[in-house]
Amino acid sequence: MTIAMTYAEFAVREARGVSPAYERLSLAVSRDDEVVALLGTLPPGKRQPTLLFGVVRFLGGPVDDPAAFHEFVVENWPAIEAESRTRATQTNEAGRCALLLPVLAALPQPLALLEVGASAGLCLYPDRYAYRYGDHTVGSGPPILDCVATGLTPPACLPDVVWRAGLDLNPLDVTDPADVAWLDALIWPEHAHRRARLRAAAAVAAADPPLLVRGDLVDDLPALAERAPAGATLVVFHTSVLYQVPPPRREAFVEVVRGLPGHWIANEAPDVLSYDALPQPPDESLHNVLALDRTPLAWTRGHGQSIAWFA
Ligand SMILES: C[S@@+](CC[C@H](N)C(=O)[O-])C[C@H]1O[C@@H](n2cnc3c(N)ncnc32)[C@H](O)[C@@H]1O
Repeated sequence: MTIAMTYAEFAVREARGVSPAYERLSLAVSRDDEVVALLGTLPPGKRQPTLLFGVVRFLGGPVDDPAAFHEFVVENWPAIEAESRTRATQTNEAGRCALLLPVLAALPQPLALLEVGASAGLCLYPDRYAYRYGDHTVGSGPPILDCVATGLTPPACLPDVVWRAGLDLNPLDVTDPADVAWLDALIWPEHAHRRARLRAAAAVAAADPPLLVRGDLVDDLPALAERAPAGATLVVFHTSVLYQVPPPRREAFVEVVRGLPGHWIANEAPDVLSYDALPQPPDESLHNVLALDRTPLAWTRGHGQSIAWFA
C-alpha cells in the first residue's frame, strides 16, 4: 500500500466517527504530494498517521487545520523527522482494563500480572481503577472507566493483584514529564476524556510504580515470568501489541507464552492473531478479539469503550 493509500484508509477506517480532525488531516495528507514525499524519506515503520500526528502535536503544531498542518510539517521537517525516528506509537490506554477485568476477575486469585508491550504500564492496575458497565459499577476511581458491555454479566469485584510487571522494547516512565507529554500527544485531539483518564491513571501508577523491564516479548518473557511469586496465578497479557511485531516473531511469542504456567489473555486484531471461527463483529468499525488461553471470548473496541461477549 502506498503512503497516500495508507492515509486515505486511516481516514475512513480508523478516524471516521472517532476523530473528525484526524479524518480531515489524514485525507489531506493522502492528497499532499509534498508531505507524502517527506514521509517517504522515513523508514517504512515510521510513516504511519498516528506517529506523524502525535509528533506534530508533541512539537506544538496544529492538527485542526490541514493547511496550517502542511505549513508546519514543511517548515519543521528536521525536528519532525528526528522525533519520528526516535519515538514510537506507544499509546497506553488504561481504558483497556475494562476489557480485561471480566476475565481477570474470574481467574483463581490472587494474580501475578505480566504485561508484554506494557508501554508505561497503565494496564497493570486493573485492581485500582473504577468501572462503569452501564448501570453496574465496580471499584472506586479515579479514573472511572466507562465500557458498553453486551452479553456479559459484569464482575462484582476487583481482582486481587499481588505482583505486576511489564516488558517493553521501550518502557515509558509515568514519573517523567516528557514521557507523559508523549503519551498525551498520542491521544487523538477530540478525546479530552482520554486525556483526563491518562492523567488519573498516571497518578495511580506513579504512586506505586510497576516493575517495568526493557526487553523483547519473545526473548525476555521466560526470565521475567520466573520472577512471579509462587502461590499466585501468573497471567501474561497484551492489548494492541502484536500488530507491531513481525509475523514470524508473533508465532515465536505464541510458542513461548503457551509454554508458561498460568493463563494468557490476548486482546488483538483478528488479522494479527487469528482464530478458527469467529462470529460476525457487531458493526463495521475495527474490533479486537479478547481471548483467554487461545479461546476467543468477545469483540472489543480499541480504547476499551465496548465489549461484546460471544453468545
Ligand atoms: C500500542 S502500545 C500498547 C500499550 C499497552 N499494551 C496498551 O494497551 O495500552 C504497544 C507497545 O508494545 C511495545 N512493543 C512492540 N513490540 C514489542 C516487542 N517485540 N517486545 C516488547 N514490547 C514491544 C511497544 O514499545 C509499545 O509500548
